[in-house]
Amino acid sequence: MQQDILQNKRILLIIGGGIAAYKCMQMIRDLSRRGATVRCVLTRAAKEFVTPLTVAGLSGEKVYDQLFSLTDEAEMGHIKLSRDADMLVVAPATANIMAKMAHGLADDLASTLLLATDKPVLIAPSMNVRMWLHNATQRNLHQLLSDGIYYVDPNEGTMACGEYGPGRMAEPFQIIEKIEQVLAVAKPKTLPETFRPMQTKLEGRHVLITAGPTHEPIDPVRYIANRSSGRQGYALAEAAVKAGASVTLVSGPVDLAAPANVKLVKVKTALDMQKAVNAALPADIAIFAAAVADWRVAKSAGQKLKKTGEAPNLTLIENPDILKSISHMQDGRPELVVGFAAETENLNENAAAKYKRKGCDIMVANDVGLDKNVFGCEENTVHIIDKNGFENWPKSTKSEIAVKLMALFAERLK
Ligand code: C5P
Repeated sequence: MQQDILQNKRILLIIGGGIAAYKCMQMIRDLSRRGATVRCVLTRAAKEFVTPLTVAGLSGEKVYDQLFSLTDEAEMGHIKLSRDADMLVVAPATANIMAKMAHGLADDLASTLLLATDKPVLIAPSMNVRMWLHNATQRNLHQLLSDGIYYVDPNEGTMACGEYGPGRMAEPFQIIEKIEQVLAVAKPKTLPETFRPMQTKLEGRHVLITAGPTHEPIDPVRYIANRSSGRQGYALAEAAVKAGASVTLVSGPVDLAAPANVKLVKVKTALDMQKAVNAALPADIAIFAAAVADWRVAKSAGQKLKKTGEAPNLTLIENPDILKSISHMQDGRPELVVGFAAETENLNENAAAKYKRKGCDIMVANDVGLDKNVFGCEENTVHIIDKNGFENWPKSTKSEIAVKLMALFAERLK
Protein backbone atom coordinates (compact mmCIF):
# COMPACT_ATOMS: atom_id res chain seq x y z
CA MET A 1 0.00 0.00 0.00
CA GLN A 2 1.27 3.47 -0.83
CA GLN A 3 2.14 5.59 2.21
CA ASP A 4 0.06 8.73 2.84
CA ILE A 5 2.20 11.67 1.78
CA LEU A 6 1.16 13.52 4.95
CA GLN A 7 2.50 10.76 7.22
CA ASN A 8 5.32 12.13 9.42
CA LYS A 9 5.28 15.52 7.69
CA ARG A 10 5.78 18.61 9.83
CA ILE A 11 3.48 21.48 8.98
CA LEU A 12 3.96 24.92 10.51
CA LEU A 13 0.50 26.48 10.43
CA ILE A 14 0.40 30.25 10.79
CA ILE A 15 -3.12 31.26 11.77
CA GLY A 16 -4.02 34.80 10.78
CA GLY A 17 -6.65 37.07 12.29
CA GLY A 18 -9.75 36.40 10.23
CA ILE A 19 -13.14 34.88 10.88
CA ALA A 20 -12.04 31.82 8.84
CA ALA A 21 -9.51 30.97 11.59
CA TYR A 22 -12.13 28.58 12.99
CA LYS A 23 -11.73 26.41 9.87
CA CYS A 24 -8.13 25.76 10.90
CA MET A 25 -9.40 23.70 13.84
CA GLN A 26 -10.87 21.13 11.44
CA MET A 27 -7.72 21.29 9.33
CA ILE A 28 -5.44 20.60 12.31
CA ARG A 29 -7.54 17.54 13.20
CA ASP A 30 -7.58 16.22 9.64
CA LEU A 31 -3.84 16.71 9.17
CA SER A 32 -3.06 15.09 12.54
CA ARG A 33 -5.32 12.13 11.79
CA ARG A 34 -3.32 11.51 8.66
CA GLY A 35 -0.07 11.39 10.57
CA ALA A 36 1.23 14.94 10.15
CA THR A 37 2.56 17.01 13.03
CA VAL A 38 0.99 20.46 13.05
CA ARG A 39 2.79 23.15 14.97
CA CYS A 40 0.85 26.41 15.16
CA VAL A 41 1.70 30.08 15.32
CA LEU A 42 -1.02 32.63 16.08
CA THR A 43 -0.82 36.26 15.10
CA ARG A 44 -1.98 38.83 17.64
CA ALA A 45 -5.26 39.27 15.73
CA ALA A 46 -5.77 35.50 15.41
CA LYS A 47 -6.08 35.27 19.19
CA GLU A 48 -9.24 37.37 18.91
CA PHE A 49 -10.83 34.56 16.90
CA VAL A 50 -9.39 31.34 18.37
CA THR A 51 -7.64 30.69 21.65
CA PRO A 52 -4.12 29.31 22.01
CA LEU A 53 -5.58 26.72 24.39
CA THR A 54 -7.93 25.26 21.76
CA VAL A 55 -5.15 25.19 19.17
CA ALA A 56 -2.70 23.54 21.58
CA GLY A 57 -5.34 21.01 22.59
CA LEU A 58 -6.10 20.04 19.01
CA SER A 59 -2.54 20.00 17.73
CA GLY A 60 -1.00 18.45 20.82
CA GLU A 61 1.90 20.88 20.35
CA LYS A 62 3.07 24.06 22.00
CA VAL A 63 1.53 27.14 20.36
CA TYR A 64 3.82 30.04 19.49
CA ASP A 65 2.77 33.68 19.40
CA GLN A 66 5.64 35.82 20.64
CA LEU A 67 8.64 37.00 18.67
CA PHE A 68 10.61 37.92 21.77
CA SER A 69 9.95 35.24 24.34
CA LEU A 70 12.97 34.26 26.35
CA THR A 71 11.68 30.75 26.94
CA ASP A 72 10.87 30.22 23.27
CA GLU A 73 14.24 31.54 22.17
CA ALA A 74 15.98 29.24 24.66
CA GLU A 75 13.98 26.21 23.52
CA MET A 76 13.51 26.99 19.87
CA GLY A 77 14.70 30.11 18.03
CA HIS A 78 12.49 31.57 15.34
CA ILE A 79 14.92 30.53 12.61
CA LYS A 80 14.82 26.92 13.76
CA LEU A 81 11.03 27.04 14.07
CA SER A 82 10.75 28.21 10.45
CA ARG A 83 13.17 25.58 9.14
CA ASP A 84 12.08 22.62 11.24
CA ALA A 85 8.94 22.22 9.19
CA ASP A 86 8.53 20.53 5.81
CA MET A 87 6.16 23.28 4.78
CA LEU A 88 4.57 26.52 6.06
CA VAL A 89 0.86 27.17 5.64
CA VAL A 90 -0.73 30.56 6.27
CA ALA A 91 -4.49 30.27 6.90
CA PRO A 92 -6.38 32.48 6.87
CA ALA A 93 -3.94 34.69 4.97
CA THR A 94 -5.36 38.15 5.61
CA ALA A 95 -4.75 41.16 3.37
CA ASN A 96 -2.39 42.42 6.06
CA ILE A 97 -0.24 39.25 6.21
CA MET A 98 -0.08 39.12 2.42
CA ALA A 99 1.05 42.77 2.30
CA LYS A 100 3.72 42.12 4.93
CA MET A 101 4.98 39.04 3.07
CA ALA A 102 5.05 40.84 -0.27
CA HIS A 103 7.16 43.62 1.22
CA GLY A 104 9.36 41.48 3.45
CA LEU A 105 8.25 42.99 6.76
CA ALA A 106 9.25 41.15 9.91
CA ASP A 107 7.56 42.89 12.81
CA ASP A 108 6.02 39.91 14.60
CA LEU A 109 6.64 36.19 14.93
CA ALA A 110 4.51 35.14 11.91
CA SER A 111 6.07 37.57 9.43
CA THR A 112 9.58 36.89 10.76
CA LEU A 113 9.13 33.12 10.30
CA LEU A 114 7.86 33.67 6.77
CA LEU A 115 10.90 35.74 5.91
CA ALA A 116 13.37 33.35 7.53
CA THR A 117 12.12 30.10 6.07
CA ASP A 118 13.73 28.09 3.30
CA LYS A 119 10.70 25.79 2.98
CA PRO A 120 7.71 25.95 0.60
CA VAL A 121 4.99 28.33 1.75
CA LEU A 122 1.27 28.01 0.96
CA ILE A 123 -1.22 30.79 1.65
CA ALA A 124 -5.01 30.45 1.88
CA PRO A 125 -6.29 34.01 1.43
CA SER A 126 -9.45 35.08 3.23
CA MET A 127 -10.91 38.56 3.31
CA ASN A 128 -13.78 40.81 2.30
CA VAL A 129 -14.45 40.75 -1.45
CA ARG A 130 -13.43 44.40 -1.95
CA MET A 131 -10.23 43.90 -0.03
CA TRP A 132 -9.49 40.81 -2.13
CA LEU A 133 -10.20 42.55 -5.43
CA HIS A 134 -8.35 45.75 -4.43
CA ASN A 135 -5.41 46.54 -6.70
CA ALA A 136 -3.05 46.55 -3.71
CA THR A 137 -4.00 42.99 -2.69
CA GLN A 138 -3.88 41.70 -6.26
CA ARG A 139 -0.48 43.37 -6.73
CA ASN A 140 0.76 41.72 -3.55
CA LEU A 141 -0.60 38.34 -4.64
CA HIS A 142 1.18 38.70 -7.97
CA GLN A 143 4.41 39.50 -6.16
CA LEU A 144 4.02 36.53 -3.82
CA LEU A 145 3.35 34.10 -6.65
CA SER A 146 6.37 35.31 -8.57
CA ASP A 147 8.40 34.86 -5.37
CA GLY A 148 7.44 31.17 -5.49
CA ILE A 149 4.70 31.20 -2.83
CA TYR A 150 1.83 28.74 -3.48
CA TYR A 151 -1.80 29.66 -2.92
CA VAL A 152 -5.28 28.20 -2.70
CA ASP A 153 -7.84 30.33 -4.49
CA PRO A 154 -10.48 31.73 -2.15
CA ASN A 155 -14.03 30.52 -2.83
CA GLU A 156 -16.91 32.67 -3.92
CA GLY A 157 -19.88 33.04 -1.59
CA THR A 158 -21.58 35.09 1.08
CA MET A 159 -19.10 36.67 3.45
CA ALA A 160 -19.35 37.03 7.20
CA CYS A 161 -19.94 40.76 6.50
CA GLY A 162 -22.94 39.96 4.27
CA GLU A 163 -21.32 40.90 0.95
CA TYR A 164 -21.09 38.34 -1.88
CA GLY A 165 -18.08 37.44 -4.00
CA PRO A 166 -14.64 35.81 -3.97
CA GLY A 167 -12.72 36.04 -0.70
CA ARG A 168 -13.99 33.17 1.46
CA MET A 169 -11.12 31.00 2.57
CA ALA A 170 -10.93 27.64 0.77
CA GLU A 171 -12.33 24.69 2.73
CA PRO A 172 -9.91 22.60 4.85
CA PHE A 173 -10.08 19.68 2.38
CA GLN A 174 -9.09 22.01 -0.50
CA ILE A 175 -6.15 23.40 1.49
CA ILE A 176 -5.05 19.89 2.46
CA GLU A 177 -5.26 18.77 -1.18
CA LYS A 178 -2.93 21.63 -2.14
CA ILE A 179 -0.58 20.82 0.77
CA GLU A 180 -0.29 17.27 -0.59
CA GLN A 181 0.44 18.53 -4.11
CA VAL A 182 3.10 20.96 -2.92
CA LEU A 183 4.74 18.36 -0.64
CA ALA A 184 4.85 15.94 -3.57
CA VAL A 185 7.01 18.19 -5.71
CA ALA A 186 8.41 21.27 -4.01
CA LYS A 187 12.07 21.43 -3.13
CA PRO A 188 13.57 23.65 -0.42
CA LYS A 189 14.49 27.04 -1.80
CA THR A 190 18.11 27.76 -2.52
CA LEU A 191 19.52 31.24 -2.21
CA PRO A 192 19.56 33.09 -5.55
CA GLU A 193 23.05 33.84 -6.86
CA THR A 194 22.13 37.35 -7.84
CA PHE A 195 18.82 38.96 -7.20
CA ARG A 196 16.97 41.01 -9.75
CA PRO A 197 13.22 41.35 -9.29
CA MET A 198 11.10 40.04 -12.15
CA GLN A 199 9.74 43.52 -12.78
CA THR A 200 13.11 45.03 -13.54
CA LYS A 201 14.04 42.09 -15.76
CA LEU A 202 10.90 42.29 -17.85
CA GLU A 203 10.60 46.08 -17.81
CA GLY A 204 10.68 47.22 -21.42
CA ARG A 205 11.20 43.70 -22.76
CA HIS A 206 9.04 42.42 -25.60
CA VAL A 207 7.25 39.15 -24.86
CA LEU A 208 5.54 37.41 -27.77
CA ILE A 209 2.92 34.79 -26.93
CA THR A 210 0.81 32.53 -29.14
CA ALA A 211 -2.41 31.15 -27.68
CA GLY A 212 -5.56 29.23 -28.49
CA PRO A 213 -6.31 26.77 -31.27
CA THR A 214 -6.12 27.40 -35.00
CA HIS A 215 -9.04 26.80 -37.33
CA GLU A 216 -8.15 25.17 -40.63
CA PRO A 217 -10.96 25.61 -43.18
CA ILE A 218 -12.51 22.70 -45.03
CA ASP A 219 -14.97 24.97 -46.79
CA PRO A 220 -16.46 28.39 -45.91
CA VAL A 221 -18.50 26.92 -43.00
CA ARG A 222 -16.50 23.95 -41.72
CA TYR A 223 -13.07 23.75 -40.18
CA ILE A 224 -10.63 21.47 -38.34
CA ALA A 225 -9.96 22.64 -34.78
CA ASN A 226 -8.99 21.39 -31.33
CA ARG A 227 -10.09 21.82 -27.73
CA SER A 228 -7.61 24.51 -26.68
CA SER A 229 -9.38 27.35 -24.83
CA GLY A 230 -6.41 29.73 -24.86
CA ARG A 231 -6.64 30.28 -21.09
CA GLN A 232 -3.04 29.37 -20.25
CA GLY A 233 -1.68 31.63 -23.01
CA TYR A 234 -3.95 34.53 -22.00
CA ALA A 235 -2.92 34.09 -18.36
CA LEU A 236 0.72 34.27 -19.45
CA ALA A 237 0.04 37.49 -21.36
CA GLU A 238 -1.56 39.02 -18.26
CA ALA A 239 1.31 37.92 -16.01
CA ALA A 240 3.89 39.30 -18.45
CA VAL A 241 2.20 42.69 -18.80
CA LYS A 242 1.82 42.97 -15.02
CA ALA A 243 5.54 42.30 -14.71
CA GLY A 244 6.28 45.31 -16.91
CA ALA A 245 6.80 43.67 -20.31
CA SER A 246 5.32 44.89 -23.55
CA VAL A 247 3.29 41.97 -24.79
CA THR A 248 2.08 40.84 -28.20
CA LEU A 249 -0.51 38.09 -28.01
CA VAL A 250 -1.11 36.25 -31.28
CA SER A 251 -4.35 34.42 -30.67
CA GLY A 252 -6.38 31.85 -32.53
CA PRO A 253 -10.19 31.98 -32.18
CA VAL A 254 -11.09 31.88 -28.47
CA ASP A 255 -13.84 33.09 -26.19
CA LEU A 256 -11.67 35.26 -23.96
CA ALA A 257 -11.17 39.00 -23.55
CA ALA A 258 -7.61 40.18 -24.08
CA PRO A 259 -5.89 41.30 -20.87
CA ALA A 260 -5.53 45.09 -20.53
CA ASN A 261 -2.51 46.71 -22.22
CA VAL A 262 -1.70 43.66 -24.33
CA LYS A 263 -1.36 44.03 -28.09
CA LEU A 264 -3.77 41.43 -29.45
CA VAL A 265 -3.37 40.06 -32.97
CA LYS A 266 -6.28 37.81 -33.92
CA VAL A 267 -5.65 35.00 -36.39
CA LYS A 268 -7.56 31.96 -37.61
CA THR A 269 -5.19 29.57 -39.37
CA ALA A 270 -1.68 28.27 -38.68
CA LEU A 271 -0.41 30.13 -41.76
CA ASP A 272 -1.90 33.40 -40.44
CA MET A 273 -0.34 32.69 -37.04
CA GLN A 274 3.07 32.16 -38.60
CA LYS A 275 2.80 35.47 -40.49
CA ALA A 276 1.69 37.34 -37.37
CA VAL A 277 4.53 35.86 -35.30
CA ASN A 278 7.14 36.82 -37.88
CA ALA A 279 5.67 40.32 -38.13
CA ALA A 280 5.79 40.74 -34.33
CA LEU A 281 9.53 39.95 -34.08
CA PRO A 282 11.98 40.92 -32.66
CA ALA A 283 11.10 39.68 -29.18
CA ASP A 284 13.12 38.95 -26.05
CA ILE A 285 10.95 36.01 -25.06
CA ALA A 286 8.72 34.00 -27.41
CA ILE A 287 6.24 31.64 -25.79
CA PHE A 288 4.34 29.22 -28.02
CA ALA A 289 1.31 28.22 -26.00
CA ALA A 290 -1.00 27.86 -29.00
CA ALA A 291 -2.31 24.46 -30.01
CA VAL A 292 -1.52 24.88 -33.68
CA ALA A 293 -3.25 22.39 -35.97
CA ASP A 294 -0.63 20.02 -37.34
CA TRP A 295 -2.42 19.72 -40.67
CA ARG A 296 -4.57 21.81 -42.94
CA VAL A 297 -6.77 20.83 -45.85
CA ALA A 298 -4.61 21.10 -48.97
CA LYS A 299 -7.26 22.95 -50.92
CA SER A 300 -10.27 24.19 -48.99
CA ALA A 301 -13.45 24.40 -51.05
CA GLY A 302 -14.61 27.86 -52.20
CA GLN A 303 -18.26 26.93 -51.61
CA LYS A 304 -19.95 24.80 -48.96
CA LEU A 305 -19.41 21.12 -49.80
CA LYS A 306 -22.67 19.38 -50.67
CA LYS A 307 -23.73 15.92 -49.54
CA THR A 308 -23.45 13.71 -52.60
CA GLY A 309 -23.92 10.32 -51.02
CA GLU A 310 -20.17 9.85 -50.99
CA ALA A 311 -17.86 11.22 -48.28
CA PRO A 312 -15.47 13.86 -49.67
CA ASN A 313 -11.78 13.03 -49.85
CA LEU A 314 -9.87 15.58 -47.83
CA THR A 315 -6.16 15.75 -48.53
CA LEU A 316 -4.27 17.06 -45.54
CA ILE A 317 -0.87 18.72 -45.67
CA GLU A 318 1.40 19.63 -42.79
CA ASN A 319 1.35 23.13 -41.36
CA PRO A 320 4.63 24.96 -40.77
CA ASP A 321 6.03 24.36 -37.28
CA ILE A 322 6.23 27.92 -35.93
CA LEU A 323 8.01 27.04 -32.69
CA LYS A 324 10.66 25.01 -34.50
CA SER A 325 11.31 27.70 -37.11
CA ILE A 326 11.75 30.43 -34.47
CA SER A 327 13.94 28.16 -32.30
CA HIS A 328 16.24 27.58 -35.26
CA MET A 329 16.49 31.21 -36.43
CA GLN A 330 20.06 32.17 -37.26
CA ASP A 331 19.62 35.93 -36.90
CA GLY A 332 17.40 37.70 -34.43
CA ARG A 333 16.36 34.61 -32.48
CA PRO A 334 14.53 35.62 -29.27
CA GLU A 335 16.79 35.19 -26.25
CA LEU A 336 14.37 32.69 -24.76
CA VAL A 337 12.10 30.41 -26.79
CA VAL A 338 9.49 28.41 -24.89
CA GLY A 339 7.30 25.60 -26.23
CA PHE A 340 4.30 23.82 -24.75
CA ALA A 341 3.81 20.08 -25.09
CA ALA A 342 0.29 18.82 -24.60
CA GLU A 343 0.45 15.05 -24.25
CA THR A 344 -2.15 12.37 -23.63
CA GLU A 345 0.30 9.51 -22.90
CA ASN A 346 3.94 8.88 -21.91
CA LEU A 347 4.27 12.52 -20.93
CA ASN A 348 7.91 12.42 -19.82
CA GLU A 349 9.33 10.62 -22.86
CA ASN A 350 7.19 12.42 -25.43
CA ALA A 351 7.84 15.86 -23.98
CA ALA A 352 11.58 15.24 -23.62
CA ALA A 353 11.77 14.08 -27.26
CA LYS A 354 9.79 17.14 -28.34
CA TYR A 355 12.11 19.44 -26.37
CA LYS A 356 15.09 18.12 -28.34
CA ARG A 357 13.31 18.08 -31.69
CA LYS A 358 11.97 21.62 -31.48
CA GLY A 359 15.21 23.24 -30.32
CA CYS A 360 13.54 25.52 -27.76
CA ASP A 361 15.11 26.55 -24.44
CA ILE A 362 12.28 25.46 -22.17
CA MET A 363 9.41 23.05 -22.80
CA VAL A 364 6.35 23.24 -20.56
CA ALA A 365 4.59 19.88 -20.66
CA ASN A 366 1.09 19.09 -19.53
CA ASP A 367 -1.06 16.02 -19.52
CA VAL A 368 -4.23 16.79 -21.42
CA GLY A 369 -5.93 13.39 -21.37
CA LEU A 370 -9.67 14.08 -21.20
CA ASP A 371 -9.82 12.69 -17.65
CA LYS A 372 -7.31 15.38 -16.57
CA ASN A 373 -9.76 18.28 -17.05
CA VAL A 374 -7.23 20.68 -18.51
CA PHE A 375 -8.91 21.95 -21.67
CA GLY A 376 -11.07 24.95 -20.88
CA CYS A 377 -10.60 24.48 -17.13
CA GLU A 378 -9.16 26.78 -14.48
CA GLU A 379 -6.41 24.41 -13.33
CA ASN A 380 -3.41 22.79 -14.88
CA THR A 381 -0.46 20.61 -13.85
CA VAL A 382 2.78 21.36 -15.65
CA HIS A 383 6.26 19.91 -15.87
CA ILE A 384 9.29 21.91 -16.90
CA ILE A 385 11.91 20.44 -19.22
CA ASP A 386 15.13 22.27 -19.91
CA LYS A 387 18.86 21.66 -20.02
CA ASN A 388 18.79 20.93 -16.26
CA GLY A 389 16.31 18.06 -16.64
CA PHE A 390 12.72 17.58 -15.59
CA GLU A 391 10.84 19.40 -12.82
CA ASN A 392 7.28 18.69 -11.69
CA TRP A 393 5.09 21.54 -10.49
CA PRO A 394 2.02 21.09 -8.29
CA LYS A 395 -1.49 21.37 -9.71
CA SER A 396 -2.40 25.07 -9.65
CA THR A 397 -4.70 27.58 -11.28
CA LYS A 398 -3.61 28.63 -14.76
CA SER A 399 -3.03 32.19 -13.54
CA GLU A 400 -0.78 31.00 -10.70
CA ILE A 401 1.18 28.85 -13.15
CA ALA A 402 1.44 31.81 -15.52
CA VAL A 403 2.98 34.11 -12.89
CA LYS A 404 5.44 31.41 -11.82
CA LEU A 405 6.37 30.64 -15.41
CA MET A 406 6.99 34.33 -16.15
CA ALA A 407 9.22 34.53 -13.06
CA LEU A 408 11.15 31.49 -14.29
CA PHE A 409 11.51 32.96 -17.80
CA ALA A 410 12.62 36.34 -16.42
CA GLU A 411 15.22 34.51 -14.35
CA ARG A 412 16.71 33.01 -17.52
CA LEU A 413 17.23 36.35 -19.27
CA LYS A 414 20.72 37.79 -19.26
O1 C5P B 1 4.25 19.23 -31.99
P1 C5P B 1 3.31 19.81 -31.01
O2 C5P B 1 2.12 20.49 -31.65
O3 C5P B 1 2.86 18.90 -29.91
O4 C5P B 1 4.22 20.91 -30.31
C1 C5P B 1 3.75 21.75 -29.38
C2 C5P B 1 4.51 23.04 -29.40
O5 C5P B 1 4.85 23.45 -30.71
C3 C5P B 1 3.67 24.16 -28.86
O6 C5P B 1 4.52 25.09 -28.24
C4 C5P B 1 3.02 24.74 -30.10
O7 C5P B 1 2.61 26.06 -29.91
C5 C5P B 1 4.15 24.62 -31.11
N1 C5P B 1 3.72 24.43 -32.48
C6 C5P B 1 3.91 25.44 -33.40
N2 C5P B 1 3.56 25.24 -34.71
C7 C5P B 1 3.00 24.07 -35.09
C8 C5P B 1 2.80 23.04 -34.17
C9 C5P B 1 3.17 23.26 -32.87
O8 C5P B 1 4.40 26.52 -33.05
N3 C5P B 1 2.66 23.89 -36.34
